[in-house]
Amino acid sequence: MTDYPYFNHLPKPLISEVKIRQRIRELGELITDEYRGQDLVVVSVLKGSFIFFADLIRSIKTPLHCEFMGLSSYGSGSTSSGEVKVTLDLLEPIEGKHVLIVEDIVDTGVTMSYLLKTLSNRKPLSLKVASLLFKPDALKQPLELDYVGFRIGNEFVVGYGLDYGGRYRQLPYIGLLEHEN
Ligand code: IMP
Repeated sequence: MTDYPYFNHLPKPLISEVKIRQRIRELGELITDEYRGQDLVVVSVLKGSFIFFADLIRSIKTPLHCEFMGLSSYGSGSTSSGEVKVTLDLLEPIEGKHVLIVEDIVDTGVTMSYLLKTLSNRKPLSLKVASLLFKPDALKQPLELDYVGFRIGNEFVVGYGLDYGGRYRQLPYIGLLEHEN
């Protein structure tokens, strides 16, 4: 594992860099197959998905456009406020386009349900979801995810774009936050 001498405590590894890379390659192949020959708009949900998004789009071999959407549902800690806010909207209309939402993690599903409702109102040709992580036991409402990297338990994870209080996003692996640094 990469050395981080300025961290007093590193999150305990749950999913390694190698496993993440392999799984993203598989997801990229599935997505390439699905959208072969079709123009695709890929939406990164900020901030958490930016690293997954950057790796995933490079494993998709069909032409695509990148869009960014800012959403926040968490405060500075590890519990959801339950309220979703759009902090940055798409710059282009998605009407009549194939749209793939790229998210870091689906926990209760509140954020993704809100996003699916908001974007489907804009009449895309198709609307699908790719989430790196999914906590099935935390889901509060039925939700269909089209591409899932890894299913995990009800634990709070950080790294590879995911944060706790804005920190740990730069770690190349997914780790368990056992206690605060
Ligand atoms: P949901 O609305 O409860 O599904 O939460 C979705 C958002 O909560 C994600 O986009 C993350 O930003 C955040 N989140 C949920 N679980 C975790 C976690 O274990 N680590 C870091 N962020 C999380």
